[in-house]
Formats: sequence, C-alpha cells, structure tokens
Amino acid sequence: MSKIAYLNGRFVKLKDAKINIEDRGFQFSDSIYEVIAFKNCKFIDLKFHLIRLRNSLKFINIKYKFTNKNMENKFFRLISMNKINSGLIYIQITRGVQPRSHAYTINLKPTIVIYIIKKNFNDKINKLISKTAITYPDLRWKRRDIKSVSLLPNILAATEASNKSSYEAILIENGYVTEGTASNIWMVKNRILKTHPANSDILRGITRDSIKKLIKKYKLKLIEKKIKKESLYISDEVFLTSSSSFVTPIVKIDNKLINKGKIGNITMELARLYNLRTI
Ligand code: PDD
Repeated sequence: MSKIAYLNGRFVKLKDAKINIEDRGFQFSDSIYEVIAFKNCKFIDLKFHLIRLRNSLKFINIKYKFTNKNMENKFFRLISMNKINSGLIYIQITRGVQPRSHAYTINLKPTIVIYIIKKNFNDKINKLISKTAITYPDLRWKRRDIKSVSLLPNILAATEASNKSSYEAILIENGYVTEGTASNIWMVKNRILKTHPANSDILRGITRDSIKKLIKKYKLKLIEKKIKKESLYISDEVFLTSSSSFVTPIVKIDNKLINKGKIGNITMELARLYNLRTI
C-alpha cells in the first residue's frame, strides 16, 4: 500500500490526505478515474491511458489541465517515494467542492488524487494462473464508456463473485455478456475470438486495444460482436483482460467448466505475447 499520496499539488502521507465532505466526488461520485499498471518502474501503455483520462474529463466537462510529462513525473515521484517497483497507479479527478446541489456550477477547482498500490501481476507464462467467474445482471447506466467512479453495480457484482470464491463477475444484459466488473471478456470458439464491440455499453479497455493489435499482427480471427451467455458456457476458451489482470484465463463460469478446466492455447499465446510487451 502507498504511504505517500499526491493530493491537489502536494505529496502527503496517506493518513493526512483529506478530502472536503462537500467534494462532489464524495457526495455524487461526480468524478472520473484511471488505472495504469507499471512493472519494474515502466508504465504499460501510459500514452493510451492518458488519452482516455482526457476523454473521460471531456465527457463530463471537468476542466483539469495537465501535460503528459508533468503527470508522468508525479507517477515517478510516487514510485520512488513509496519504493514500489511494480503495481498500479490510481488517478482520480473530481469536479471539486461546492455546497451540496445536484447541478454543478462552472469553474470549480477539480480535486486530484494519485496514489499507488503494489501488485504482483499474472505474468509468469509457465505459471499462468487461471481463475473462475460467475455471471451477474448488468445493472449499470448507459454510458459505460466513461471511466466514472460510480461503481455501485460493479461492487455488488464483484462482491457476489468474491462470496462465491470467484475472481470476476461477468455482467449480463438481455442474455448477452457486456464485460466484467473491472475487465473485458473474450471467448474463443473454433479458433475464432469474440468480444463485445467498443460502444457505450462497455469500457473500451486499453488492454483490449493492445490485445486487438496482437490479434491483427498474428493474423488470428476476431469478431467484435455481443456474446450470448449460453455460448460462453460452451466456448473453447474464455479469458479476461485489464490493466491489473493482464490476460487472465477463465476456466469455470457458474460451475460450468470451460475446456475441461484447462487454459486454452490461444489464451496462453495471447498472454505470452502481451507479457512480452511489458518486460
Ligand atoms: N478496470 N471494463 C471495466 C468496467 C473496467 O473497470 C476495466 C478496468 C476494464 C479494462 O480496462 P483496461 O484494460 O483499460 O484496464 C474494462 C480497472 C483495472 C479498475 O477499475 O481497477
């Protein structure tokens, strides 16, 4: 856990990083965030995460200005101050402080928090760890492409998964998979990959984009189409992708084994190729 965090221009001890109770992030989750992995002090896909951070701010009209260099310097300082080599950077920007009112006034001063978490990634190709998942109704709003901190439906689903000793909850809407609570979901059938199209029904994962590039480079077949819940159960392979989970095989969903509980070849190969990029 990070001992030093960045809050509104200052590096402070985590216990001293205090937020005003009238911060709109706290009261209304009027706020967006970003999560970036770093391995051996090297950021993974930093450029694309910062593009998404800017887009999230733009979508909800929070005016927070930063340069990539400046942001990167803050990350490096946190890494060195906390003596953490590999983990996750968490950035949250809220609209700022205002007497409680649903409607926001313009020209508020955004609140920014950055802190880092130590993490060992699922990146040992000879010891790739497979996981299990449950399915759960997708109860979220209609703009899931915005990386908003309004995560109540996600945390209810994730907690249900955790209570059932599963790693992830795969969210289902009208009989189709959207995504995981904090990941994108992929399946393989007859060597063809399938994942949800990047529209407003899901968050367009940065890891998802990287996997898409690998799929193209290695001439694998991908269909970006909604996956029927039932076809997940009878697929040859299922895996999830995210900045924190990289490529993680899913070998059991709702007590149904996928590929007899074994990691599939395409999943293994994509995990290997993705992990090579992060060395
Ligand atoms: N979650 N879908 C959702 C709902 C997510 O929250 C995430 C990321 C993803 C994958 O996005 P990416 O590949 O850019 O990490 C998809 C992060 C890790 C989190 O909230 O902690």
